[in-house]
Amino acid sequence: MTAAVAPNLVAAVDQARHWSDLTAMAAIGGFTDAAGNQGVNRPCLTELDREARRLLLSWGEAAGLAPSVDRLGNLFLRLEGADPTLAPVLTGSHMDSQPQGGRFDGIWGVLAGLEAVRAIREAGITPRRPIEVVAWTNEEGGRYAPGCMGSMAYTGFAPPQTWDGVTDRAGIRFSDALAETLAAEADIPRRPLGVVEGTAPFAYLEAHIEQGPLLEAQGQDIGVVTGIQGSRWFLVEIRGKSDHAGTTPLGLRQDAVQDMLRAITALNALMHDPADILRFTVASIEVEPNTSNSVAAVARFTIDFRHPDNAVLQARGNAIEGVIQAAVRNCAVTLTERFHAAPAAFQPMVPDAVEAAARAQGLRHIRMPSGAFHDAQFLVPVCPTGMLFVPCRAGVSHHPAEYATPEALAAGTRVLAQALADLANR
Ligand code: GLV
Ligand code: MN
Ligand code: MN
Repeated sequence: MTAAVAPNLVAAVDQARHWSDLTAMAAIGGFTDAAGNQGVNRPCLTELDREARRLLLSWGEAAGLAPSVDRLGNLFLRLEGADPTLAPVLTGSHMDSQPQGGRFDGIWGVLAGLEAVRAIREAGITPRRPIEVVAWTNEEGGRYAPGCMGSMAYTGFAPPQTWDGVTDRAGIRFSDALAETLAAEADIPRRPLGVVEGTAPFAYLEAHIEQGPLLEAQGQDIGVVTGIQGSRWFLVEIRGKSDHAGTTPLGLRQDAVQDMLRAITALNALMHDPADILRFTVASIEVEPNTSNSVAAVARFTIDFRHPDNAVLQARGNAIEGVIQAAVRNCAVTLTERFHAAPAAFQPMVPDAVEAAARAQGLRHIRMPSGAFHDAQFLVPVCPTGMLFVPCRAGVSHHPAEYATPEALAAGTRVLAQALADLANR
């Protein structure tokens, strides 16, 4: 298959243009932290997100790509194929960031898709199938939980109105923020929502920084991703009673913070894994009324739990509620599951295309699973899916110090371009 790729395609990927695109995007929501790292804070469906999308649209227009947006705000740029009736090859990622995020997580996959498609055009290739670059809505889940809303709606994993009532910290509903973005993009043609209202893509290939240390440590250029571990998100609410901190005897308190500590300690025991495969994180905590001298009436905390083995993901995840109920002493507990992505294994077609392209370009590559979740996870049931990773410095991600070199990113984009051209000619 790789022999069919025009030899000038790889040369048409423009490292300087690609890096300049990334730098321009990083300025939208960009900040410098105390250590001098240049991070990005660009939550989904904000003014900054809309600015970034406009910039992407302008580059798409300049490259002769046809834009469209669906009712979840998933944004598409289409390179027409020789046969427009064929199902497209889809590539992309997300443009939203963590609140203290980096310059590459997500956005690189979108801009790599754009650069790959530009290179395909500039190399004079018209693939049989259309190729569409997609920017999925709200992958991170930082402003609105959970993440991957755009891809979950696109694939029919969840109905599109599922998250309408979810609010951000300012109380703004997801449906209102989405409506604002769609109104701002009223000039962009609407398209049916994915496989729910339209048809499935022929294949999906997402490029992403690794977000872990393996590729860099092993001196590898490309990670050929084989699958993604499972993730479950929960919100725990512990309800007690506020009282005076100076006067109320301990025995009379219903202290939500003390019960939260008991619950988290018990969960650490439940999630203990000597093999260090399981991932268990409590990282967002809210307390009410949140003053020093009032006993806490409410404590809310999130659970992010991941495992590659579905049996473990189900068994330990389903045990969480009982473990918390048994741990708390004085308060009432409610547990809400907000995200449930089963472990996903990619079928061979797309990983094989990525590997063939990496090999043809003389790049060092390994097969590896993904510890992070991605929109690709939700595409698995609807079409052959895959991802490619490039190394990032020290594996750091979800942090302003996140970094990948222009050379590493361009290498990934060349592999992406070749794999896309290959898949779109099938
Ligand atoms: C994606 O951002 C993840 O948390 O894995
Ligand atoms: Mn990401
Ligand atoms: Mn992320």
